[in-house]
Amino acid sequence: MELINKADKYFMETYCQLPVVLTKGNGATLYDNKGNSYVDFTSGIGVNSLGYGDENWTKAVEEQSKNLAHISNIFYNLPSIKLAEKLVNSANMSKVFFANSGAEANEGAIKLARKYSFDKYGEDRSTIITLKQSFHGRTLTTLSATGQEKYHNYFFPFTEGFKHVIANDYEDFVNNLDSSVCAIMMEAIQGEGGVRPLDEDYVNKVIAKCKENDMLVIFDEVQCGIGRTGLLFGFNHFDIEPDIVTIAKGLASGLPIGAVLCNEKLSKVLKPGDHGSTFGANPVASAAALVVLDKVCEEKFLESVISKGKKIKQFLNNTGLELKVRGQGLMIGVQIQGDASKIQKEALDKGLLVLTAGPDVIRLLPPLTINEEELEKGLEILYQVIS
Ligand SMILES: Cc1ncc(COP(=O)(O)O)c(C=O)c1O
Repeated sequence: MELINKADKYFMETYCQLPVVLTKGNGATLYDNKGNSYVDFTSGIGVNSLGYGDENWTKAVEEQSKNLAHISNIFYNLPSIKLAEKLVNSANMSKVFFANSGAEANEGAIKLARKYSFDKYGEDRSTIITLKQSFHGRTLTTLSATGQEKYHNYFFPFTEGFKHVIANDYEDFVNNLDSSVCAIMMEAIQGEGGVRPLDEDYVNKVIAKCKENDMLVIFDEVQCGIGRTGLLFGFNHFDIEPDIVTIAKGLASGLPIGAVLCNEKLSKVLKPGDHGSTFGANPVASAAALVVLDKVCEEKFLESVISKGKKIKQFLNNTGLELKVRGQGLMIGVQIQGDASKIQKEALDKGLLVLTAGPDVIRLLPPLTINEEELEKGLEILYQVIS
């Protein structure tokens, strides 16, 4: 309690923190400062994709931090060049810009889309359509992009030029189109908004309309990308090719990183001085991300994510409880009858960490490397708590 009181004294009150001080982890198990252990179904909100203490990851981070922890982008560094090559080729894109977080990656994507449109069509074509219940970050611009009213408060004036349409409603999308629209940005599975996947038919129709009118398609893969849903990207569940893809969270399995990927059409839009970030392409974060990408791109790795996801869904669908289970791979939402944050607290007391996504959705984002034993133990606790 003493530590928590101290934290409450010094931190701004931005987070509803749970009363536990975590000190170390191993695999998908975390330990607190009192020696209690917890099965982790959160992975730092989709960050620790390789869990805790992964040998290759630790070695790469240790070696790179000994050699060169940081260098400015006015010079080149080795790990970021290797990462750029691997990422661009695995994603089948053309170029990458490195940032440090999801919000920063989305800011980069928004700038890129607007500049493409400005260069080609002039000033009045800058509106970006996003979806209701989306989440795109906490900067003023990404809050504007976020399609949830609760985030559009206090911090006025917000960035202009965003319209929010109903997800999976093609009519609403078309009704909101006008000559000012330059792009649409969406999550293949809305994470913070309740783990809600987009329908394939909707995505196909929206993209066809965008291609027809040279409106750019941006996929925010910050939460659902890098293997989380059992494919490299969430949008890989559809047969489509976005113009811009943003990633962050799980990319470096625990170090801050973000990235904007773009296709050939956009590869020359940003010129020297148009964008930048002091810590972007940091060598240690890049070395960590290389380990993650190598692992995620290994044959069979993504199959294991899919099969673990199926196991979770099967378990939850067979409990006899009234649950609605959504999501893909290891990004799962469980809509319950009661209060999700109450379940979260009770699970913590029993040794399981889970997330919420709205008042009645429990969100499960375990490390992609979670083993069978940890998975079964976590599910058993979840069942006890929900029932
Ligand atoms: C889909 C999506 N985009 C963007 C963000 C913002 O990422 P960050 O917190 O790294 O800025 C999040 C964070 O939850 C997210 O889920």
